[in-house]
Amino acid sequence: MAAFPAFFGLLMAAVVSGQMVDITPREAVRRVGDELKVMCKVPYVIDSCRMTVGTTSYRLRPDITGGDVIYTGNGFKSGECGALIKNIKEEWNGNITCVLPPQAGAIELAGVMRLVVARPPREPELKTPLDPSFKEDTEFMAQCVVPDGRPAARISWFLDEEQILRGTHQPIITSEPGSDLQTISQNVSRVLSADDNGKMLICRAEHEALDSVMEARRQLIVHYPPKRLEAGTITIFGLKLGEPGRLNVTVRANPPPHAEWRVGDVTLAPMQSNEGIAALEPVHLGGGYYNISLLLSRVQKEDVERKYYLRVSNELGQQEFTVLISTMDEPAGVELDTGAIVGIVIAVLVLLIAVFLVVFAKATDRWCFAGRSHRTDIPDGADSEAPLPSHDDVKGSENPTHDHGEYISNGDTKHPEKKPDTAV
Ligand SMILES: *[C@@H]1O[C@H](CO)[C@@H](O)[C@H](O)[C@H]1NC(C)=O
Ligand SMILES: *[C@@H]1O[C@H](CO)[C@@H](O)[C@H](O)[C@H]1NC(C)=O
Ligand SMILES: *[C@@H]1O[C@H](CO)[C@@H](O)[C@H](O)[C@H]1NC(C)=O
Ligand SMILES: *[C@@H]1O[C@H](CO)[C@@H](O)[C@H](O)[C@H]1NC(C)=O
Repeated sequence: MAAFPAFFGLLMAAVVSGQMVDITPREAVRRVGDELKVMCKVPYVIDSCRMTVGTTSYRLRPDITGGDVIYTGNGFKSGECGALIKNIKEEWNGNITCVLPPQAGAIELAGVMRLVVARPPREPELKTPLDPSFKEDTEFMAQCVVPDGRPAARISWFLDEEQILRGTHQPIITSEPGSDLQTISQNVSRVLSADDNGKMLICRAEHEALDSVMEARRQLIVHYPPKRLEAGTITIFGLKLGEPGRLNVTVRANPPPHAEWRVGDVTLAPMQSNEGIAALEPVHLGGGYYNISLLLSRVQKEDVERKYYLRVSNELGQQEFTVLISTMDEPAGVELDTGAIVGIVIAVLVLLIAVFLVVFAKATDRWCFAGRSHRTDIPDGADSEAPLPSHDDVKGSENPTHDHGEYISNGDTKHPEKKPDTAV
């Protein structure tokens, strides 16, 4: 069994010696006509250096400088066997091997690197579902195939200018048997949104053999039913009695929406009018937003008091709006809205306190009620801390309806001040 360790030792030596030829680079991609420097090194003095490029074996020496494959390096003394390979040819695609003498023995050592002579792929193909339009919120998948590149091309995806990073699948690289050309394909999936409508889906292919990128593109069409931009009843502020008024509602829809207004029992389609009220054609504002307007030639009191109903529809659905108009200015934002609410709350509290105080005062004969009874019953009248009520007081307290009324009218005068916030 002594043969086994010996064999094993030999194997180890071969593996180790194989690794001892340090070749750089291990792999390179070059275009036809480019040049490449390959360097093999061993830690001892060498007396020969060979390099196999394509099917030809070149003997390299520092003093031979002609040809497309010439010696490069710091000389045999430094253990360097390098080649400067010029005018790279298509058929050199494949392995480049350097062959160096061993430090001892007769078996030559070799180092292998891989030269990929780049070949441009064919045009990218973008495969998408045949149906040209998609519904919002559907999962959309596209596939891009860039065939026959060497090496495989690189694919990146864009939606207009913006790169798609989420939803890209792992690229798959395949090649025909017996061919060194590679086809790459990658899928991308995306849940389509209204904002994607009209955008260009782009598959971009980059390759070493191309001076510029190649692209395949397809425009996305996303359909969705009308959407409202604000919930609830819409109030159009700032209309003036006797002047023309415009009611507008902005909606988003694709395909373009059809709008129909209902005023009282009259229905108005775009371009129709009745008694000075005209429905206008929806105006596209861009991005699927439409301005839908109703024109009142002269705003009258009864116009302010009624409701306007708008139905916006397209092939995918419809949306109903109730619109009110107001002759007041639009409340300027949330802060003032909160202020109005606080004002109302305070007003109501003041009113409640006032009522409570009146009732309390009446019930216990305090303050003005008590004072009145003091004046009649107890001449000094100093103390407002109520003395025990007498029968007279209770009777008397029913009389000063004037004071009572003052409290309530106080409450009432507060109300009209706050009314503008609540009235329509
Ligand atoms: C190139 O070298 C690799 C090892 O580095 C080897 O597997 C492959 O078969 C070689 N190709 C050719 C065409 O010799
Ligand atoms: C990529 O998309 C194609 C066609 O759209 C489909 O046939 C294929 O199964 C998809 N591959 C992956 C990995 O999703
Ligand atoms: C949208 O409608 C309003 C009111 O009808 C109008 O003032 C505005 O100019 C419209 N905007 C566009 C871009 O048409
Ligand atoms: C009316 O149209 C203008 C301009 O297009 C828009 O800014 C505004 O929000 C619209 N008003 C309503 C209530 O939709």
